[in-house]
Amino acid sequence: MASSMMILVLVQLITLSTLISADLETYIVHLDSIKGQQFFQKQDRENWYQSFLPRTATAGPADVQEPTMVFAYHNVLSGFAAKLSSEHVKAMKNKDGFLYARPQRMYMKHTTHTPNFLGLYQTLGFWGGSNYGKGVIIGVLDTGTTPGHPSFDDYGVPPPPAKWKGKCEVEGCNNKLIGLRDLTTGENGTRFDQDGHGTHTSSTAAGNFVKDANVFGNAKGTAVGMAPLAHVAMYKVCTVLDCPESAIIAGLDAAVEDGVDVLSLSLGGGSQPFYQDGIAIGALRAIQKGIFVACSAANAGPAKSTLSNEAPWILTVGASTIDRKIVATVSLGNKELLDGESLFQPKDFPQTYLPLVYPGLNGDQNASLCMAGSLDHIDVKGKVVVCDRGVIARLDKGQTVKNAGGAAMILVNQVEDGDTTLADAHVLPASHVGYKQGVAIKAYMSLFAYPTATLLFRGTVIGVDSAPAVSSFSSRGPSLASPGILKPDIIGPGVSVLAAWPVSVENNTQTSSTFNMMSGTSMSCPHLAGIAALLKAAHPSWSPAAIKSAMMTTANQVSLNGNPIEDEREVRADIFAIGSGHVNPTKANEPGLVFDIEPDDYIPYLCGLGYTSLEVRIIVQTKEVSCSETIPEGQLNYPSYAMTLAKGENKTYSRTVTNVGEANSTYTISVKNVAVPVGIVVVVPNPTLKFTQKYQKLTYDLTFRRNSNEEVNVTYGQGAVAWGSSKYLVRTPFVIKFV
Ligand SMILES: *[C@@H]1O[C@H](CO)[C@@H](O)[C@H](O)[C@H]1NC(C)=O
Ligand SMILES: *[C@@H]1O[C@H](CO)[C@@H](O)[C@H](O)[C@H]1NC(C)=O
Ligand SMILES: *[C@@H]1O[C@H](CO)[C@@H](O)[C@H](O)[C@H]1NC(C)=O
Ligand SMILES: *[C@@H]1O[C@H](CO)[C@@H](O)[C@H](O)[C@H]1NC(C)=O
Ligand SMILES: *[C@@H]1O[C@H](CO)[C@@H](O)[C@H](O)[C@H]1NC(C)=O
Ligand SMILES: *[C@@H]1O[C@H](CO)[C@@H](O)[C@H](O)[C@H]1NC(C)=O
Repeated sequence: MASSMMILVLVQLITLSTLISADLETYIVHLDSIKGQQFFQKQDRENWYQSFLPRTATAGPADVQEPTMVFAYHNVLSGFAAKLSSEHVKAMKNKDGFLYARPQRMYMKHTTHTPNFLGLYQTLGFWGGSNYGKGVIIGVLDTGTTPGHPSFDDYGVPPPPAKWKGKCEVEGCNNKLIGLRDLTTGENGTRFDQDGHGTHTSSTAAGNFVKDANVFGNAKGTAVGMAPLAHVAMYKVCTVLDCPESAIIAGLDAAVEDGVDVLSLSLGGGSQPFYQDGIAIGALRAIQKGIFVACSAANAGPAKSTLSNEAPWILTVGASTIDRKIVATVSLGNKELLDGESLFQPKDFPQTYLPLVYPGLNGDQNASLCMAGSLDHIDVKGKVVVCDRGVIARLDKGQTVKNAGGAAMILVNQVEDGDTTLADAHVLPASHVGYKQGVAIKAYMSLFAYPTATLLFRGTVIGVDSAPAVSSFSSRGPSLASPGILKPDIIGPGVSVLAAWPVSVENNTQTSSTFNMMSGTSMSCPHLAGIAALLKAAHPSWSPAAIKSAMMTTANQVSLNGNPIEDEREVRADIFAIGSGHVNPTKANEPGLVFDIEPDDYIPYLCGLGYTSLEVRIIVQTKEVSCSETIPEGQLNYPSYAMTLAKGENKTYSRTVTNVGEANSTYTISVKNVAVPVGIVVVVPNPTLKFTQKYQKLTYDLTFRRNSNEEVNVTYGQGAVAWGSSKYLVRTPFVIKFV
């Protein structure tokens, strides 16, 4: 009797808890701003939003189903985020003014999870000219930041401009860190940035000069962000775990209202149609207000079509190497030396040859990856253990080897990782080597019955002249959301970047000057955001599209050794890896010509993507949209081209350039076919542009033609056209997919 009662109670509990947890989800709800009245008070708008939330009359257990408002948006979205059931959403659809609702997505930070450390930032030639970004406000959406860190000292930084309306929710803000707001709900703990990611990205964008930055004594130098005299406003939208879309939109909403000039988002979800992507929607409202938006491209490379943040109004940033490595050389028993990297460089590692073991030798995949528990039945005590990269975090592999009693780890790239190695703070002596080096190590092991190895820690090496090279993890195009726009737009430093960190990774409690090294497009994005701030300071009248154009048309095509920029396979990086190329801040300051885009120009473009007028209105928000006018993607005034061409087909696109160089200047065009098969012709009806005034605009056409009698045996062809004057070179790359 008693036991059957028990069971009954248990069943009831389960039913109830299923109701509570399963039914309510956070939805993003779009309302028709035209139907809504003019709101003079925020409260009035919120009341209007509230009127959409269905009320449940009954009391009792049904109370848990009551819909609740999570965020009311005022600037970047006409609508709100609320915890709703699908029944609630159904009920809302009948209300006048309802446009669209969907469950929010979870976005991710774009770093590898493993911290690294590394050296100095290069000083930039036009720092002085841009006044180090003085007066510009960079809004960063991330995991929070660390007030009081020396990177956020405000030495030399003036008070924020009068337009600044933001606020600081914690103690410790100053003229450098002018805002800090938490849009996440209920992360535990006391430190504002529990993760470190946001401290790193915000100091990369605009950290002040900090002398003698180093970790473990490595890479000693002055750490400084791209725009050291700019202001930083942090909007905490990510927890340690993830970044809810409703919080990201709330961060964008607050940043636009507060008056930021530049936004940096090192986070994203997978490719989505733009009307279902909170970042794309919020970013369009930001650029409508003249705010520049840079986003990370994601870390899902080197496979094709792995990008996040593909909207053409966003600068989509891929990641490349810098000219520094922290070298840990593998010395094999046959005296062969193979360079790898590690941040942790113990001085006391014995230089005697130790037994070398590859736990994956018998075909056990988990053991080859050094997954937790997989080494339990393998004798690795006192040995150097070879682990394949992938599946789990790199530092965790080292922990597994250490737990199993291994003396050291050699972390070996898989074929797709190529030669991209990272200087990680491993928990034991280690070296991360490239794919080729790994093959050599395994070949050596197969030839000798008792293979041995040791590690030689050789510290920081500067002047690696293969840099910049595109990292293997940097996400690649083509864009899925808009294949007719070339993405990523640009690449910048994103491998083993040194920047501020909330705590000492060395457990040094004597200093507040704590740094760490991280890798990811999360690290390259704030570099470009900081450079955008410098350009904004130097050219206050330039639009977001003009700043973006200036960076793209002047980007570098070659690495320090003068050869074309390579990817992780050590072959020429293709256009879907580098976009326009590697950012060159000094040249971006004097681009000669810019391809400008007005926010309204995106409307016919969005209509041309095949979106319904409702879907376009969700994105554009401010206007009734009829989609009576459409343009193909290639007709947007973008500083690059991506198109398909069938046999015998030709496509003509026009572009309008604005002269931001010398008033009297003449440009002539040249076409450089990097890898375009025979039979592709670029026709330039008018190969000269003659300007007589500054800010004068001139329009030209290009026709891309594919002959009908030539066979093409590749999928893509790529090249570039460049307008050259006596002073400037304005380069626009193109890619053609053969269909
Ligand atoms: C709260 O802290 C615990 C223990 O540190 C952790 O497991 C959990 O993920 C944290 N919760 C959030 C929301 O960060
Ligand atoms: C390998 O590891 C995964 C994840 O830990 C586990 O699910 C799987 O069972 C393991 N495979 C073997 C063969 O042990
Ligand atoms: C720092 O302290 C933690 C916890 O005591 C320890 O696990 C870790 O090995 C230490 N790290 C270093 C670099 O000493
Ligand atoms: C493009 O194709 C059209 C239609 O086939 C043709 O009339 C035109 O001459 C072509 N233009 C160029 C520049 O080849
Ligand atoms: C540009 O050239 C025109 C005619 O060649 C001349 O009249 C004008 O003064 C020049 N403007 C500048 C700014 O040099
Ligand atoms: C494609 O054609 C070119 C030149 O016609 C030739 O050199 C190349 O080997 C061909 N590639 C393939 C994959 O057939």
